Amino acid sequence: MARSYFTHDVWLEDQADKGVPLYKDCYVDDLRDLKLAHWDLRGCDTAFIQFTDMNGVTEARVQEIPAGGSLKPFKLGVDELIYVLQGRGFASVYGDISKAHRDFEWGERSAFVVPRNAWCELRNMSDKPVRLLHFNYLPLAMTVITDPNFFFNNEHVNGSMIDDADQEFFSEAKDVEKDFGSAWGKVGTKVWKGNFWPDLLAWDKLVSLGDRGAGGSSIAMYVPGSEMSAHMSVFPPGRYKKAHRHGPGRLIVIPGGEGYSIMWPEGGEKKIYPWHAGSAITPPDQYFHQHFNLGTKAARYFALHPPVQFIGKDEDESGNAKESNINYPNEEPWIREYFEEELAKRGLKTDMPEAAYTDLDYVFKPAPTASQ
Ligand SMILES: [Fe+2]
Repeated sequence: MARSYFTHDVWLEDQADKGVPLYKDCYVDDLRDLKLAHWDLRGCDTAFIQFTDMNGVTEARVQEIPAGGSLKPFKLGVDELIYVLQGRGFASVYGDISKAHRDFEWGERSAFVVPRNAWCELRNMSDKPVRLLHFNYLPLAMTVITDPNFFFNNEHVNGSMIDDADQEFFSEAKDVEKDFGSAWGKVGTKVWKGNFWPDLLAWDKLVSLGDRGAGGSSIAMYVPGSEMSAHMSVFPPGRYKKAHRHGPGRLIVIPGGEGYSIMWPEGGEKKIYPWHAGSAITPPDQYFHQHFNLGTKAARYFALHPPVQFIGKDEDESGNAKESNINYPNEEPWIREYFEEELAKRGLKTDMPEAAYTDLDYVFKPAPTASQ
């Protein structure tokens, strides 16, 4: 029987009792195909996904807007990140006080953050259903305030940062020099800061990320006035990253590319999870996980972070993960063999340098990151 001791867990099971699907797994092959059912609270087809070890930490759900349809304005008491899995549309966000609307269009692979206590109306502008992934820290908030109704269309909470925001609030996120401290450590020296990212597949301003291997690069994404954050990682074809591990609640969504991840608890069974655009995977707490690119172009993943309290890894003085990576010379030989076999099935060859398997200090040269 599933454990249900957090307020949010109980609330989720109430929604499931009302007919909204509640999936419990660490992987979804394609969020665009997930079976949904009507959810009264938001007036649309929905499914919740309680990814493994995310209970009590982060909430994920998929919502659909039918072709030409719209969702009535809704006010949520916590910041919420929305990633567009399919379709294109229009958002209108406004506060109770100013009533001034901030309107913007979004498309496939856009991401945006609706600030807490702002009203948000969403419209489908395409001729097929829109699918959205919603992600927030509501479980943690409901641990502090154990009344779920406090967070939904609360008429007693009227202030939102959108009331004081300028018209640029949902303009494209900017890459800026990182000029602030963060418990997330040094994921690059530049960050991508804002409330709106138009297309995660198109972004090419990335920072080389040496310690995770594969010649990959990454950019951290920060949201002004919020503790929500994420990062996007890109790594070249024919290569795979080092295995590593950390705390729970990190949700990985694939904007583009083809590959697989292997995940396992220390000393436990290793399982393989294939991914492509629309797949979602979440490494359970302290499970090792390792990502492999089987495509002909760079693969990329969008990692939605839990609250920073759940980072769950030791760091050295420079902010890099300490002893959480498994270096290539120390991995089990079948990991390399399986990767090369899977590439061969596709007529491809490995681009992993031999020296990476013998030299513990091997450093990859930065590689092209174009994925389109
Ligand atoms: Fe990770």
